[in-house]
Amino acid sequence: MSASKDRVIELNKGYVCPDKIRIFNQIGIDLVIGKREGPYIYDLDGKKLIDIHINGGTYNLGHRHPEIIKTMKEALEMPIDIGNHHFPSLLRGQVAEMLVTLCPGDMKYCVFASGGSEAVDIAVKSARHATQRRKIVSIDNGYHGRTGLSGAVGNTKNAAFFLSDTPDDSVTVPFNDVFAMKGALSKEDIAAVILETIPATLGFPLPENGYLAEVKSICEQTGTLFIADEVQTGLSRSGKIWAIEKFGVVPDIIVSAKGLSGGMYPIAAAILNEKAGSWLLEDGFAHVSTFGGSEIGCHIAKKVLEIISRPETLDHVNRVSKYLADSLEKLQEKYSHLIEVRQCGLIAGLKFEGEIGAVTMSKALYDNGVWAMFSGYDLSVLQFKPYLFTDEVLVDELMDKLEKSIVQCTS
Ligand SMILES: Cc1ncc(COP(=O)(O)O)c(C=O)c1O
Repeated sequence: MSASKDRVIELNKGYVCPDKIRIFNQIGIDLVIGKREGPYIYDLDGKKLIDIHINGGTYNLGHRHPEIIKTMKEALEMPIDIGNHHFPSLLRGQVAEMLVTLCPGDMKYCVFASGGSEAVDIAVKSARHATQRRKIVSIDNGYHGRTGLSGAVGNTKNAAFFLSDTPDDSVTVPFNDVFAMKGALSKEDIAAVILETIPATLGFPLPENGYLAEVKSICEQTGTLFIADEVQTGLSRSGKIWAIEKFGVVPDIIVSAKGLSGGMYPIAAAILNEKAGSWLLEDGFAHVSTFGGSEIGCHIAKKVLEIISRPETLDHVNRVSKYLADSLEKLQEKYSHLIEVRQCGLIAGLKFEGEIGAVTMSKALYDNGVWAMFSGYDLSVLQFKPYLFTDEVLVDELMDKLEKSIVQCTS
């Protein structure tokens, strides 16, 4: 599987994603990921980097977690394959039961997908059928994926690029603005509000006190469903299994993806309460997905859910989060370039001075051995998302590299 870095870049520039390579090149980042293990990725040229981008939470357990590797090997030895989505499956049923049980409130069903966008599509379709309304409310510059329905909510620039936006059915309001939300829902014609509990692409702004609870209450008053997109924030990264639990809100639908795969086999899910899942009783073929809930994916997801829900995992996340918070606070006191720290568990957004302050920091960190990505819709905020098993030593190492990068960016 070995090839020179130049050859890999040439192949991808030629056949896969020329513009993306050009953009990263402009920033001075030419990462080609070779070996990977735990919190580390290695550039093909041998450079070791701490991965705190973790592909949005995909590597929540780290890269190639030993239990996930063991589970994957087990799956290959079992007399299974992807399975057939039309027929009952023990593994699919077990993962659905686990997900429903791990969610707050009275979730009832789980519809599987192969990725987050597809799972968001399922959430949107379920809400539309349940309410017999078409409109969806999301936040300005929200991000929920790039398929037809998921791409048509939140920031729809890319949907419009493909002539696939649906302006009549998509309404956006500013995050943390209860008044605007009330206005948007006042005509009682909205199928669902879809919100990321802490919006990643916007730079992880934290929900203000009572905001999410207030939104849920307006939803209840207006017959609107509440979809919690926990694709990035779920699976124990916040210190709770779902970040929405931290804010005392029980959604009608929870979307999970990325980390559910253990970074090893694609799987995603929309978890629905009775109302949202009503269509499953009416027309079982209304939504199907060949790869959604594949049996190999389910075998991995079962292990992922077992690991992330262990009390010791949650205890660890909460302990290290506190250490991370203290460390970031010390750094912020020292450097005014770091304007703001937004943190919830091991999910953090670091706001830097200047409109593209986080892009410059991303490059400096790359040079200093950390892969951290800027937020797509706020280039001043760096996403700082270490994996669940980050310990105090790794936090110290990250702080050293962060400090060095800040100094470089400001001198
Ligand atoms: C919050 C959120 N929702 C949905 C998605 C879409 O997931 P996927 O890329 O697996 O389709 C993403 C992906 O980054 C995301 O961050």
